[in-house]
Amino acid sequence: MIPKRRLGTDGPVVGCLGYGAMVLEGYYGPSDDEQAVETIRHALDLGIDMLDSADAYGNGHNEELIGRAIADRRNNAFVCTKFGIVFDESESATELPTGWGFSLRINGKPTYVRKALDASLRRLHTDVIDLWYAHYPDPSTPIEETVGAMAAGVSAGKVRYLGLSNVTAEQVRRAHDVHPIAAVQYEYSLWRREIEISLLPTLKELGIALVPWSPLGGGFLTGTVTQLDKDDFRQHNPKYAGSNLTANRDRFAPLLDLAKQLGATPSQLALAWLLHRGEDIVPIPGTRRPERIDENAGAANVTLDSDRLAQIDRLAPAGLAQGATLV
Ligand SMILES: NC(=O)c1ccc[n+]([C@@H]2O[C@H](COP(=O)([O-])OP(=O)(O)OC[C@H]3O[C@@H](n4cnc5c(N)ncnc54)[C@H](OP(=O)(O)O)[C@@H]3O)[C@@H](O)[C@H]2O)c1
Repeated sequence: MIPKRRLGTDGPVVGCLGYGAMVLEGYYGPSDDEQAVETIRHALDLGIDMLDSADAYGNGHNEELIGRAIADRRNNAFVCTKFGIVFDESESATELPTGWGFSLRINGKPTYVRKALDASLRRLHTDVIDLWYAHYPDPSTPIEETVGAMAAGVSAGKVRYLGLSNVTAEQVRRAHDVHPIAAVQYEYSLWRREIEISLLPTLKELGIALVPWSPLGGGFLTGTVTQLDKDDFRQHNPKYAGSNLTANRDRFAPLLDLAKQLGATPSQLALAWLLHRGEDIVPIPGTRRPERIDENAGAANVTLDSDRLAQIDRLAPAGLAQGATLV
C-alpha cells in the first residue's frame, strides 16, 4: 500500500498518489471499459484511493465507469469529480478561450451547479461525492456565487469537500472566504512550473492541497511518446506539435538519463519530484494499464535528496518546455 497524505491542513487522509481517470475516455488512445474498471480497482488495491473524474470526461461516461468500479468498494474510494464544462448546446454558458486553439463553454451559475451535482451523483451511483471541484471558473459568474452554490451541496450532505480547478491565487482566496477549499487542481509537473510563483505559495499559506493534473505531462515525461495518432487529443497541445515535440524531447532528455542513474523509471522520477515539492501535494497520474499503476506507485519509494532536487532544478527549470499552455 502506498503511504498516505492529508489533503490540506484540515482535510481528509488519502493515498499520496491518486488516479486520473480521464485517460479512460480515449483521449490519448483507445480504451476498453472492462480493462478500465479493472485498472481503477487495481489502483484501489494499492491504496491509490483518490479517483479523479469529471462530468466532462466522456460526457458523463467516465463517472459511470468510476461508479461501476467502486460499486462494492465505496468505502475504499475517495471519489472526486468536477462540473462546469458544458457540451449541451441548449444550456447557456460562457465561452472561455484556451491556449490550445479551442474554447470551452463554462457555466458556474447556481441553478446549473445544483443540476450538475445531482447528475454526477446519479452517474457515480453514490450518495455523496468526497471532493467536488469547479472545473473552471465561469468568466461571467463571480466565484463567490459558484462556491456558495457548491457549499449548499455540502450542507445537503451530497458533498464532503470542495475544490477548485484552473484558478488564480486571487480566485482561491475569494472562494476560500465563502467556504473552506480542500484542494486545488492545476497543471503542474517538470514541464510546467509557473504555479510556483503565486498559486502554490498561496495554497500553502491557506492550508489547501495541490492536486497536480497531467503530472506526467500527459505522458511526455515518461519518455514513451514518440508520435501521436491523428485523433489523439494531445494534438491540440502546442507542446506536442511539430518542431516543439522534437525540441522538448531534446530539452528533457537529461532527465531520462538521470532516472536511469537513480534506478527509477522516468515516470517514477517525474512523480517523485512532485511528491518532494510538498507534503500537501497529491498527483493524479492516469494510465489505461494496470501494470503502469504498479510502476507509478513505485514513485512513493524514490527518495530525492537536496543535491538531487537541485540537479533537477538545473536540468528542468521553469519555462523549459516549448509551447503554449491550456490555461
Ligand atoms: N483539472 C483539469 O483541468 C484537468 C486537465 C487535465 C487532466 N486532469 C486530470 O489529471 C489526470 C492526469 O492527467 P493526464 O491524463 O492528462 O496526464 P498524465 O497523467 O500526465 O499522463 C497520462 C499519460 O501517461 C501515460 N502513462 C502513465 N503512466 C505511464 C508509465 N508508467 N509509463 C509510460 N506511460 C505512462 C498514459 O498512457 P497509458 O494509458 O498508455 O499508460 C497516458 O497517456 C486526468 O486523468 C484528469 O483526471 C485534470
